[in-house]
Amino acid sequence: MLRIAVFVSGRGSNLRSILDSIPEYLDKVTIQAVISNKPDCGALEIADAHNIRSYLVSAIKKDDFLNYDELLEILISEKIDFIVLAGFLKKIPDEIVDKFKHRIINIHPALLPSFGGKGMYGMKVHQAVFDSSAKVSGPTVHFVDSVYDNGNIIAQEAVDISDVDSPGQIAEKVLKVEHKILPFVIKKISEQKVVVKNNRVYILN
Ligand code: GRF
Repeated sequence: MLRIAVFVSGRGSNLRSILDSIPEYLDKVTIQAVISNKPDCGALEIADAHNIRSYLVSAIKKDDFLNYDELLEILISEKIDFIVLAGFLKKIPDEIVDKFKHRIINIHPALLPSFGGKGMYGMKVHQAVFDSSAKVSGPTVHFVDSVYDNGNIIAQEAVDISDVDSPGQIAEKVLKVEHKILPFVIKKISEQKVVVKNNRVYILN
């Protein structure tokens, strides 16, 4: 059984899509914990509704928040095998990245390696894609390393955006595909069908 922690900061639609897909591979995956840097986000409400333990984390010491050292202890005590960043806006400290090498994935709402990096999140990404006049966008699921949006790419899906007339329309089109691709990758990981060979990532059938 793969014990997953999902890190969130926002409304939690990706968390919901993961939870909705879990019945397909219930024997292989459990969402053991949800971690957030934001106390009042929709994603935490979703976690509560599913009786999933949640924790708050902050780089700066605050009441009711764990710091990252304490969080690492929790991840170990909860026997977490795998971390999914589903809209988590903070950088994961190197200590956790090192401990979970090839065991942390992130979903980014554009086709990396374009339109990523520090400060490129949420609507800023879609605005940049829109301003570039790009004709395709789409989500990327990638391994997390110590640099923002830099780790090896696991899966991507291109979405035609040639007809859009706002960044919001791009966000809407890409989000629909996010909700398919992230559960797909988690399922493949649970089946040990995501493999890294010579630094290139393959998804086996
Ligand atoms: C998604 O677009 C995701 O790609 C990005 O942040 C957004 C989170 O949305 N990293 P939600 O909280 O899952 O609804």
